[in-house]
Amino acid sequence: MTAHSARPDAVLSDLAAETLSAFPDAAGMQIGPEQGAFMTMLTRLAGARLAIEIGTFTGYSAICIARGLADGGQLTCCDISEKWTSVARTYWQRAGLADRIDLQLRPAIETLRALPEGAVFDLAFIDADKPGYVGYWDEVVPRIRPGGLILADNTLSSGRVADPAIPDERVPVRAFNDHALADERVDLVLLSIGDGLTLARKR
Ligand SMILES: C[S@@+](CC[C@H](N)C(=O)[O-])C[C@H]1O[C@@H](n2cnc3c(N)ncnc32)[C@H](O)[C@@H]1O
Repeated sequence: MTAHSARPDAVLSDLAAETLSAFPDAAGMQIGPEQGAFMTMLTRLAGARLAIEIGTFTGYSAICIARGLADGGQLTCCDISEKWTSVARTYWQRAGLADRIDLQLRPAIETLRALPEGAVFDLAFIDADKPGYVGYWDEVVPRIRPGGLILADNTLSSGRVADPAIPDERVPVRAFNDHALADERVDLVLLSIGDGLTLARKR
């Protein structure tokens, strides 16, 4: 998959390498290069101009989304880690995307609840704490324009979601998967890319 998908450029591959060397225990949270290429393509196909990301880490997925945005596009990023997002800021600068990205450093649910009443997005990417997913979904879906996209990462979580031997309380994303599937405001598909990516299109 990675060998025959668009190759990450030097900014993305340097960011992946720096993330691995600076934060070896956390680096696995970063999306993979094929998923990044897919997300840039989806953002372009959706004609997205306004996007929101919940869970930014060192900024890899934010670069992939921001690069796909239409002219004048803006990405709002939500995270709580100054340490991890300081690396993101460096690479957004290097990618020439710093003016397209607005980082909000506080719990994402607070950022979402504090959005102006009429704020609407074309695309959202949910990739933060798993127990928070249902709450993020409930805040995000009403703010996506009809035809817009919601992406949720780790909805297979390396197969643990599908492993009946692991109890539900250890796999909070199962409740999210049920919640999203039952939502009649969207059309939805769960893809086995990365650790699972749910792709929902607002009707
Ligand atoms: C899986 S990582 C995101 C990876 C990123 N999308 C990428 O591809 O590199 C999850 C991120 O969610 C952030 N996070 C955890 N709990 C959060 C919360 N309550 N609000 C906002 N961000 C949170 C963490 O600090 C971490 O950076």
